Amino acid sequence: MIAEAKRKREAKVKMDWSALRTDFPILEQKVHGHPLIYFDNAATTQKPRAVLDTLVQYYERDNANVHRGIHELSNRATAAFEASRTRAAKFINARSPEEIIFTRGTTEGINLVATAWGSKNIKRGDKILLTEMEHHSNIVPWQLLAERTGAELLFFPVTGDIGLLDMSHLDEWLTKEVKLFAFTHISNSLGTINPVVELCARARKAGITTLVDAAQSAGHRPLDAQEIGCDFLVFSGHKMCGPTGIGVLYGRHEVLETMPPYHGGGEMILSVDFHKSTWKPAPHRFEAGTPDISGVIGLHAAMDYLDKTGRDNIARHDQELGAYAFEKLSQFKTGIRLFGPHIGRAGLVSFLLKDIHAHDVVTVADQGGVALRGGHHCNQPLMRKLGVESTARASFYFYNTTDEIDRFVEVLRDIQKFFGA
Ligand SMILES: Cc1ncc(COP(=O)(O)O)c(C=O)c1O
Repeated sequence: MIAEAKRKREAKVKMDWSALRTDFPILEQKVHGHPLIYFDNAATTQKPRAVLDTLVQYYERDNANVHRGIHELSNRATAAFEASRTRAAKFINARSPEEIIFTRGTTEGINLVATAWGSKNIKRGDKILLTEMEHHSNIVPWQLLAERTGAELLFFPVTGDIGLLDMSHLDEWLTKEVKLFAFTHISNSLGTINPVVELCARARKAGITTLVDAAQSAGHRPLDAQEIGCDFLVFSGHKMCGPTGIGVLYGRHEVLETMPPYHGGGEMILSVDFHKSTWKPAPHRFEAGTPDISGVIGLHAAMDYLDKTGRDNIARHDQELGAYAFEKLSQFKTGIRLFGPHIGRAGLVSFLLKDIHAHDVVTVADQGGVALRGGHHCNQPLMRKLGVESTARASFYFYNTTDEIDRFVEVLRDIQKFFGA
């Protein structure tokens, strides 16, 4: 209740988003003679000075390997490393830091679950339910598991260009053969925000284990793993102001304790004999080898930065930018195809300009200083379903402004003129 009241109070604060831009040195530059407009945040976000400084300070003062040493530097590095685990637990309201496993990112988190949980819990004839809007990271690891075990993959449909899940049919898909339901919180190519609490509740009622891909949501809105009610939740540091190469896998304690290791090596063992070893409990059982120490510590700074800004404020601003851009592009009337929900979308727009390839849009926009992304966005099966090869995507973050969107729209109009569309 107190947390909820705090969230609401934060959301009411009027933010000066442009002022926050000075925290991001990279945004100050010009590209091809134009002020940089960075609209590729769904791929990776920029890093604030607070994160950059933390990384430099760690390497300048505290660099040492964690857990094994008993000298001052190693103690400092270990304390900072474990403090980040505690911070990550708080960031997503996990029950304890033992539910937080550091990974290389969302992709590795899903592979870890598919391998360690999957090898114990999935067998021939079982079904794994995904949705048609999943990123390749939430498809391919399950394909590999299905090949190993003889399980089958099912895909819960998306309702065409508008990009929603048809919740009225969900229960028909949650059969007793389905052992796992893995789905994205926010679609990276449609901007759909899925009702994760309801998806998890309905799966749980059917006795199905759940995994939430929070790659596009963790840095964009408050996340509460207990309220969501999932068994697993994964995200990447680099999509939320943190360094690349670091991510988090949250697993419910009871589930993690039943899982065998993922990788074998140092750090994850209790004892090793020539022919047999025993494992540490979670989370260390799943963190073999020297971890990305600076990444973990940098992620801590990113989480602090985001919470100082207020994730409710960020979510509101994101949705305002998404709605503003969608409205502006809708005014094109002809010559544009827009993907994703018309209302309640996340901070991104995905579109195609008639007779102009998405890569051409992105290439010409870059000449105007606007960084977009064009392609299948690691959503090839979804693109095929929608009957397209690719889309162009503008994805926003809290340091973006409506003025930048106005400039982006101007650039798109120029592109249409240039190609005679
Ligand atoms: C929805 C979604 N899931 C998974 C990923 C994979 O994230 P990473 O490459 O950081 O592992 C992405 C990256 O774009 C994504 O958007």
